[in-house]
Amino acid sequence: MGYNVAIDGPAGAGKSTIARMVAEEKGFVYVDTGAMYRGLAVYFLDRGIGPEETERMEKACEAADVTIRYEDGAQQVYLNGENITGRLREEAVGNMASRCAAVPAVREKLLELQRRLAKEQDVIMDGRDIGTCVLPDADVKVFLTASVRTRAERRYKELKEKGENVNLAEIEEDIRERDERDSTREIAPLKKAEDAVLVDSSRMTIQEVVRTIAALCRK
Ligand code: DC
Repeated sequence: MGYNVAIDGPAGAGKSTIARMVAEEKGFVYVDTGAMYRGLAVYFLDRGIGPEETERMEKACEAADVTIRYEDGAQQVYLNGENITGRLREEAVGNMASRCAAVPAVREKLLELQRRLAKEQDVIMDGRDIGTCVLPDADVKVFLTASVRTRAERRYKELKEKGENVNLAEIEEDIRERDERDSTREIAPLKKAEDAVLVDSSRMTIQEVVRTIAALCRK
């Protein structure tokens, strides 16, 4: 069994940035489970499946093979043999991922892959249900959050730097909607595990958050 660190929290809390940095410091493998949902979302979008068509998603996901490979230490997502990592951050993909993540067959499909990765190696895995459902016996559990405003501002800055034409109020609304959808779905909702340490990064620097989480890891 590998040493397992679970990081859960809402969209935009900084999970992936922080997890990647802690992984590097500690020599763990960073597993981004959101990218797996995004991988399946690409599959559904390419087949013209709409966000409400859950039955079609259930059927279609049988033929979708999502695999993860590590190339130069970075996680790459393959969909039926094709590397689709470059498409994962598109806005439409994120929205579809949030929809398909509420479909039980989709979650089941990815759960096995996630558990296998954690069994074989020391991992820091981020997502929404890692501490509550995927790795309930993780050695360290963190619930990383930040206020909606802070998360919207971070996202706004990130997109602006990429030269995109964005609107802060719209981003804030989008984050609110996604939080609502991720936290109220019936299956594996976003929720702090009872034994998770709560870290609110609203007023912390990235380095402070990394230091706080790295200090919890006894390996
Ligand atoms: O972290 P992210 O934005 O890349 O995740 C994309 C979507 O996938 C998000 O809306 C919620 C869902 N997700 C999930 O339900 N469970 C996980 N373990 C990871 C992500």
